[in-house]
Amino acid sequence: MAPSGQADASGSTADRVYVPGRKPVQSGRSVGSGRVDANWKNAVMTARVSDRIAAIAESATLAVDAKAKALKAAGRPVIGFGAGEPDFPTPPAIVAAAIEACADPRWHRYTPAGGLPELKEAIAAKTARDSGYHVTAGQVLVTNGGKQALYNAFAALLDPGDEVILQAPYWTTYPESIRLAGGVPVEVMTDEASGYRATVEQLEAARTPRTKVLVFVSPSNPTGAVYEPAEVKAIGEWALANGIWVVTDEIYEHLVYGQAQFSSMPVLVPGLADTCVIVNGVAKTYAMTGWRVGWMIGPADIVKAATNLQSHATSNVANVSQVAALAAVSGDLSAVAEMKVAFDRRRRLITGMLDAIPGVTCPLPEGAFYVYPSVKDLIGTTLRGQRIEHSAHLASLILDEAEVAVVPGEAFGTPGYLRLSYATSDADITEGVGRMAALLAEAT
Ligand SMILES: Cc1ncc(COP(=O)(O)O)c(C=O)c1O
Repeated sequence: MAPSGQADASGSTADRVYVPGRKPVQSGRSVGSGRVDANWKNAVMTARVSDRIAAIAESATLAVDAKAKALKAAGRPVIGFGAGEPDFPTPPAIVAAAIEACADPRWHRYTPAGGLPELKEAIAAKTARDSGYHVTAGQVLVTNGGKQALYNAFAALLDPGDEVILQAPYWTTYPESIRLAGGVPVEVMTDEASGYRATVEQLEAARTPRTKVLVFVSPSNPTGAVYEPAEVKAIGEWALANGIWVVTDEIYEHLVYGQAQFSSMPVLVPGLADTCVIVNGVAKTYAMTGWRVGWMIGPADIVKAATNLQSHATSNVANVSQVAALAAVSGDLSAVAEMKVAFDRRRRLITGMLDAIPGVTCPLPEGAFYVYPSVKDLIGTTLRGQRIEHSAHLASLILDEAEVAVVPGEAFGTPGYLRLSYATSDADITEGVGRMAALLAEAT
């Protein structure tokens, strides 16, 4: 974009009117002084990015992970609890299927934007096997990870101003994805006292005539909370009775521990089938975060609309990744069963160590691979000469002083907490949380 009064690439000298606090608008009038007013220049600079995209914050979890990895690459002994990804390699049979696909010219070409037909069939079969929810392949859209499934679902469902109820602490992508689609996130606060689970009464208090969608996730990122089947049913019935769509994120369906039980909302409330979108993917279950395959399942009209969107946005997900995902969902669940044993052991290890630190309260999570301790008692204390202002400040001190990366609760809409992923080795947990304990013991 050319500054005011200067010719742009097309040779025009179209002028723009600067209104403080607003983006410049075309006036259709041309000037030609060639003088660039400083105020105007600033306006042009801020207008380079659209308001819609400028409002989006960088993913805080990815940012913490990137900082930790950069410090590590620079030789620092950083221990990262930031990333939400299994530390295991993708199972060999899945990798072998991908290697074979690479050599097959069939997969070197465009394929249907909505996903390989055989993968959609396999996802429908896997869903019936794992959650008992029966759908056709026409109700499945294969996406570039669960993230694109969410983006597509909100884009297909929301008009500007539509409200979406989601509980806080929330996974950091939900509100951004909702806003991108023109929706308005409406938060329902939960905390450790309620096991980070919202009640129907809380949801009802947040409902307005503009409420279109409820976002539901169990097991949850960032808290690891798992709703009991009776609670899932009650929430589903409330949504159905009030004509509210449910976008239910089942990406951690296989990662539940102890007595906790995963339950799929549209299975417990079959009437929801016509107003429910399921989001899922291979990332967490098969240690395939980098392969980028997820999916959405929903009523055929919504899936068709989302497929149309995807056909213009990204086309098909990389075929090699889709073939790998086909091997994953068609195979058994032995790999996730093995990972679960390790995650369960680490869950108890990290919770015990964190909860023993004065000023930290860490409930034992029942699912996913995150702990979400409260550090409220440390806010206002002094550590290494600094008064701890908030949890983001504490997280940054922990990274600088103990070389341990954690994500502050601010990223999930609830200051006063930290999120740590325990999808990392037992040795790193012992060393990393040990360093945190030694540092935090100095707080006065
Ligand atoms: C709750 C939740 N949903 C969806 C996703 C998306 O996963 P992906 O896009 O890697 O498939 C994640 C990843 O962290 C998540 O935590």
